[in-house]
Amino acid sequence: GIDTPTLAAEEGVRRRDFINIAAVSAAGVGGLATLYPLISQMSASEDVLALSSTEVDLSAIEPGQAIKAIFRKQPVFIRNLTPAEIAEADKVDVASLRDPQTLAERTQEGHENWLITMGVCTHLGCVPSGVAEGEVKGEFGGYFCPCHGSHYDVAARIRKGPAPLNLQVPEYEFLSDTVVKIG
Ligand code: FES
Repeated sequence: GIDTPTLAAEEGVRRRDFINIAAVSAAGVGGLATLYPLISQMSASEDVLALSSTEVDLSAIEPGQAIKAIFRKQPVFIRNLTPAEIAEADKVDVASLRDPQTLAERTQEGHENWLITMGVCTHLGCVPSGVAEGEVKGEFGGYFCPCHGSHYDVAARIRKGPAPLNLQVPEYEFLSDTVVKIG
């Protein structure tokens, strides 16, 4: 099976906490059966309140953590980037990217630490996870699609593998510093 999502840190691999909002609200949502194998491998160690189907309380997501929310039955990754991760993303030579975008173009002004992307690989639509140990040596972990091996960097930009585009950024709006409305 797929390894539990992990983040390649400078020393070894640090397990990311993926807190699945769907696990809280799944009862009212259809079509989630296929997501359960992935959900079961994620640690749901903190309560993240889903205020509605699209409004998410971010206050429990510490820097370095990410959650997976569900928007229109599709996974959305909401990640609180650390200053080091932001620096790593900003170091990348954007012109060399297949789908050139700066981190600033993928986040909102005043909320640059919040990276919100669809959790849907732009190749054939699998759900990427954290990058497996040893896959990204010396770099901060991004996302890895287990289906055909696409790697996305810490800003969820495609860096290698068959996927043509970065993980898509959905429409979203900050209702306050700690609540975001997706869609
Ligand atoms: Fe992700 Fe093919 S669906 S690499």
